[in-house]
Amino acid sequence: MIDGSKYHAWHGITPMADFLRESDPDLFLVGGDGSYAVDQAGRRYLDARSSMWNVTLGYSCEPVKEAMRRQLDALPSGTVMRYEHPPLVTVEYARALAGLLPPTLGRIRFGNTGSQMTEAAGMLSRFHRRMTGEPGRTRIVALSGAYHGTGPLATALTAEQILHDWSAPVDGHVTHVPAPVPGADLAPVFAAIDRIGADQVTAVIFEPVQGNLLHAADVEQLSALVRGCRERGIHAVADEVTTGAGRVGAMTVSERLAEPPDMIVLGKGLSGGYFPLAALAVADHIFDALADPPVRLGFPNGSTTDGHPLGAAAGLAVLEILTSAGFLDGVRERGRQLAALLTEAFAGHPHVGAVRGEGLLLGLELRRPDGTGWSVRDVYRLRLACRDAGLLTSYADGVLPLLPPLTISVDECAELVTILRRTVDRYVTDQLTTP
Ligand SMILES: Cc1ncc(COP(=O)(O)O)c(C=O)c1O
Repeated sequence: MIDGSKYHAWHGITPMADFLRESDPDLFLVGGDGSYAVDQAGRRYLDARSSMWNVTLGYSCEPVKEAMRRQLDALPSGTVMRYEHPPLVTVEYARALAGLLPPTLGRIRFGNTGSQMTEAAGMLSRFHRRMTGEPGRTRIVALSGAYHGTGPLATALTAEQILHDWSAPVDGHVTHVPAPVPGADLAPVFAAIDRIGADQVTAVIFEPVQGNLLHAADVEQLSALVRGCRERGIHAVADEVTTGAGRVGAMTVSERLAEPPDMIVLGKGLSGGYFPLAALAVADHIFDALADPPVRLGFPNGSTTDGHPLGAAAGLAVLEILTSAGFLDGVRERGRQLAALLTEAFAGHPHVGAVRGEGLLLGLELRRPDGTGWSVRDVYRLRLACRDAGLLTSYADGVLPLLPPLTISVDECAELVTILRRTVDRYVTDQLTTP
């Protein structure tokens, strides 16, 4: 419990009353090493949520720290927002990143957050239409259940009615259509787009793996989604803020699609979480149409710290690790090992279902014996019980997301599963609310 009169930080999404009730000054983090975060009281927590799914290389990744220290000494700040002096390291980072993405996506726009970049994707799509004589295409289609961040357009893209209701008015030209379940035919999605009027739609944005569901990516379905967009002249935007930069054991899910999307949004793990860094990769055909626009400022979107050299230095060091021999294969293998340990530990458990996901983007289904999922409130309280047992997790509706650092060891996976099994059992006995 915290005395609110002495606590001056105001957090984003957390209701402050909940935070003050459930936190304690002892819980404030002061350190971290490897897969563990350390609080003020000296307690170590196995961080199975990688902070906010972004500390992908753990808390003591020396090559990233060292690259940032060197950059701090050489050029501690800079921007790509205006003028002729982009930081050299940022230019080099853009080249390196583009080299790891589908070859048609050769232009990288840097920013600081995933939300900033999903908004940039939507605005860029609309700007491109104005520049290419299709100003009527303004509508963006997103999928039910989607999370694309917060902000005037990002909140509109996110399919959470409560965010819309309490932030209204948000950008209006977004329509959500029902997300297809994995394996489903896309005809209903395109029927909905055709009903809206495909020639009014500028872009479709989608997460290859929805963060609130955590099903493994359905590559065939995603390929069909991109193809269907292309047939209708619609930009396909893959939001890979969560799935990108190694999380599923690949640089992106998009690289596995039959044809690449027109834009890819990246964030979270790009800097290993050591600097606020996000990126929008843009197809050459969009960039080429905008390179010399008939308006004074070009694409009117940018912020002071875009392309910051500390982020670029961190990003370059992260890419070096992701591309080192066997690293991404190792992530897939570790994901399989963790999934197998979870499956074994919870086999036949009356309150736990299957393990979902791929790579180290996993979710443990929580369901009652009658088959209904645990309420989000129960998963939230299980999270608190895990925290008290030394394990940090996220929470979602009927599923416990597990996204540890990509560098987690097999022994740490075993520790994670042991703590989780013990805590789930205790929670089910002591606290689980009956339906
Ligand atoms: C798929 C996806 N898109 C966008 C965002 C927003 O990113 P940020 O929190 O950096 O603004 C998130 C964050 O969780 C995300 O998971």
